[in-house]
Amino acid sequence: MDDAEGRSFAGKVALVTGASSGLGLAVARVLTNRGAHVFGVARGGDALREAMIDVAGADGERRYAETNVASSEECAAAVASCVSALGGLDVLVNVAGAHTLRHTADVTDEDWARDLAVNLNGPFYLSRAALPHLLERGGNIVNVASVAGLEGQAYSAGYCAAKHGLVGLTRAMALEFAGAPLRINAICPGGMMTPQVSNFVFPEGVDFDLVMKSAGPRGLMEPEDVAKMVAFVASDDAAAVHGAVYAVDNGKMA
Ligand SMILES: NC(=O)c1ccc[n+]([C@@H]2O[C@H](COP(=O)([O-])OP(=O)(O)OC[C@H]3O[C@@H](n4cnc5c(N)ncnc54)[C@H](O)[C@@H]3O)[C@@H](O)[C@H]2O)c1
Repeated sequence: MDDAEGRSFAGKVALVTGASSGLGLAVARVLTNRGAHVFGVARGGDALREAMIDVAGADGERRYAETNVASSEECAAAVASCVSALGGLDVLVNVAGAHTLRHTADVTDEDWARDLAVNLNGPFYLSRAALPHLLERGGNIVNVASVAGLEGQAYSAGYCAAKHGLVGLTRAMALEFAGAPLRINAICPGGMMTPQVSNFVFPEGVDFDLVMKSAGPRGLMEPEDVAKMVAFVASDDAAAVHGAVYAVDNGKMA
């Protein structure tokens, strides 16, 4: 347990998407260690179940539901299950993501739809379903975008479009709910060592000089580095942080 932050989420309920691996798993672990009850969402039921067992809790409960965030119905069902199982919702962390690497001319309709559906539609569907519960408890939403939501990245048209869209969704909702008991923020990670990155398949003929423009000056981060920032923004210590879009990127955007 990272004692520095103590049990700042004691009694709080967090729904974390992408909780089966990488950053989502790291966020689930940090929040659990700080006392939260965590409801994990991801694709791949076996990996999700193992991840939730692996997330050692102090006394927080852990529940999960295999969910395709591209489906509005499944997102609504996940929020309803979370509220029913854990008694409410204080924090929604939209981490699930997918990244298609293609020459833009080769991007299929399916590639484009998947990038938009997982990275942008899912956070919207989940936020919409979570709104009444978050408003009831003065909760907050943390959307995990990317530095690809702040700048262009080669061979990543759909991913960049979706992540820029997620930054826009964050800002639009932050303004709309300026007078409400609800905070909405976005974190834009730079490169992290996760399965998303280790499983990258580059299309033939890419210009690696262009690819390397996406790399930060200090190399890849560990997901835990970013998870701690997510936890801070989701915590009561960040009560004045609303509509913020933070790069956590080892210096990439400098
Ligand atoms: N790894 C990086 O370098 C990096 C950099 C910037 C931003 N990000 C973003 O961080 C987030 C986490 O990525 P990661 O690197 O941990 O990846 P990862 O591949 O380790 O995890 C992705 C997670 O998303 C879930 N997921 C994928 N499609 C889904 C769907 N349709 N429905 C529900 N869940 C789905 C997977 O089950 C998995 O839990 C993503 O939004 C990603 O775009 C990653």
